[in-house]
Amino acid sequence: MNNFRYFMPADCYFGRGCVSEHKNAMAKLGKKAMVVTGRTSAKKNGAQKDITDALDALDIKWVLFDEIGENPDVETVERAAKIAIEEGVEFFIGIGGGSPMDASKAIAVMAAAPEKGTDALWDADAKALPIVCVPTTAGTGSEVTQYAILTLHAKKTKSSIAAHIFAEVSYLDPKYMDTLPAKTTNNTAVDALTHLIESYLSVKANYVSRKIVEMGLSIFKDCIPALRAREYPADIRDKLMLMSALGGAAIAQTMTSLPHGMGYFLTYEKGLAHGMANGVLTQAYVEQFPAGDEHVANLLKCLGFADTAELGAFLDDVLDHEAVYTEDDLNYYTDRFMEQPGKIATFPYPLTREDIYHMYKKSLMK
Ligand SMILES: [Fe+2]
Repeated sequence: MNNFRYFMPADCYFGRGCVSEHKNAMAKLGKKAMVVTGRTSAKKNGAQKDITDALDALDIKWVLFDEIGENPDVETVERAAKIAIEEGVEFFIGIGGGSPMDASKAIAVMAAAPEKGTDALWDADAKALPIVCVPTTAGTGSEVTQYAILTLHAKKTKSSIAAHIFAEVSYLDPKYMDTLPAKTTNNTAVDALTHLIESYLSVKANYVSRKIVEMGLSIFKDCIPALRAREYPADIRDKLMLMSALGGAAIAQTMTSLPHGMGYFLTYEKGLAHGMANGVLTQAYVEQFPAGDEHVANLLKCLGFADTAELGAFLDDVLDHEAVYTEDDLNYYTDRFMEQPGKIATFPYPLTREDIYHMYKKSLMK
């Protein structure tokens, strides 16, 4: 067995009602919080009220920043950080999908070093004020990862901030997903699935991360009929949230791999939801491994698929991918992706530009 490190320091509370039950976990984080969220969903699903009720009960003052859209950019983070600094905010609570949770990490980094401005985001040694994460989708795993992905308009793509920032406390309450639309449920579930798959197949995987993934994949398998039917009883919501956190716990050790790096361009250029962008590339990615690869065989077995074609058919079934691509698009994405040696290095076999181009082609020109 190879030597490895396992590090995932977020204090996680799982279960329906966990915010109010374990609100005291926030008491030590400061006397003033910024609640970071999107415009509507955290209000609709009750998460925002649960958090602000808990803060009120703990006598912690709070301000609301509810302007985080999908794929938040540096400009939005900068605006929120300015308010946080002016208000003397001591910790941050990100409620929502990956976007508000990631944004809250970035804001917390900027607020910890007001003199550095946005430079703090690209400083690998930057520190952050404490963060609480409350996921309301089951996909990103940001509540247990050190990543905070922002949109960079100047580079026409997305990138993680440089520092590794874990949440101090995470509340995983599946009830916030009870009202989540089918489209978002499926796209985010596929995001989590791709975390599990990419982590499992990465050269960075270790014994513990693979065991975590195997557990996540077998929970995902239980959810497959519901994802296909687009009907999600409470026990399926519970399983999706747990599976997503396990995916996060795995990529926190291994980072993601090719579909994530390749998919960012589909999100930026074609507006594909993040999970869909990864999902449409996944069959071709798995097929890039040589026939007989034991890890590919294991993951298909955990998911209950006979082969990669069944995995691809499932992804086609649960994603509604309709974007249209040209040869020029494929060449542009390929060239841009080849600029990311970090993602390419996670793949256990040699990879050429041609391989990447063919993966895009097989996935997008069906
Ligand atoms: Fe992801």
